[in-house]
Amino acid sequence: MDATALESEAQAAIAAARDADALEELRLHYLGRKSDLKLALRQVRDRETGIALNAARTAIEAALADREAELAAAAREEQEPFDPTLPGEQLHRGSLHLITQLRRRIEDIFLGMGYEVYDGREVETVWHNFDALNQPEAHPSRDPRDTFYLDAETLLRTHTSPSQIRAMQGQEPPVYLVSLGRTYRRDPLDATHTPVFHQVEGLAVDRGITLADLRGTIELFTSAIFGPRDVRMRTSFFPFTEPSVEFDITCYLCDGSGCPVCKHSGWIEMGGAGVVDPNVFEAVGYDPEEWQGFAFGLGIDRIAFLRHGLPDLRLFWENDLRMVRQF
Ligand code: PHE
Repeated sequence: MDATALESEAQAAIAAARDADALEELRLHYLGRKSDLKLALRQVRDRETGIALNAARTAIEAALADREAELAAAAREEQEPFDPTLPGEQLHRGSLHLITQLRRRIEDIFLGMGYEVYDGREVETVWHNFDALNQPEAHPSRDPRDTFYLDAETLLRTHTSPSQIRAMQGQEPPVYLVSLGRTYRRDPLDATHTPVFHQVEGLAVDRGITLADLRGTIELFTSAIFGPRDVRMRTSFFPFTEPSVEFDITCYLCDGSGCPVCKHSGWIEMGGAGVVDPNVFEAVGYDPEEWQGFAFGLGIDRIAFLRHGLPDLRLFWENDLRMVRQF
């Protein structure tokens, strides 16, 4: 067979091919297993013929590759050219979770009052979570049915109050701090309980602090969140404060006249507070004769839940975009 003639015939056909399919047909025809060229190559007996046939094969392969590249470039040019000035695809903007927003808001309010933000620990010692806070040995909240223990000395904090202890151990008075974060209790999951929730802890230690300072601080804080509200204090008990109170604000929905949100009482429960117990000061090495203080604690999830009239606390954890996007 005449290798040169075959090569020029193939070159012409390839140059005339209009698309990838036509090229593929030519590849089969000239280089396929049953092509004249392949059959001839298999029967080669002398060196010269072999060289000539191989050269023809290499040239045809190159011609096929060149034509393929040409066709691809032409196809690209036919497409719309890229216009960088056209408006792009609108991407959805993310936003902060409602709890995170409220958490930052509360931090801002207290920073504005000269408080510092203290980061506590979620994994705590039994001593910081209970003993140093004057919690009696037999208190029911120590029960492993209520508290997540990691071992005999370590647990997931059940409240943010151990932050008070850690902060006071680390600095001399005066102290003005808030500490916000996750807390853990073994509550069965339902519409109004989640085993993980968030609290804000406040602590002020200085000379001559009284319950009146606590009241003023709470009024300022709750008004900043809910608008001007009356604060009511009821006597209560916490081992780490003496006296202890629970505080309520007038219902932000009905303004005290009674509605389903406040269960027709006109008041909404906010949290617990009180004057720091001298035993707590002793546990951290502060002199209770010299220093006085108040502390308070409340649930952040609860505030967000009430504030926005949400039906179920679990919504905070499901991250359904239809819910999350509303805030
Ligand atoms: N730690 C208490 C709770 O979780 C709240 C509290 C904090 C009460 C500080 C008094 C003082 O219920």
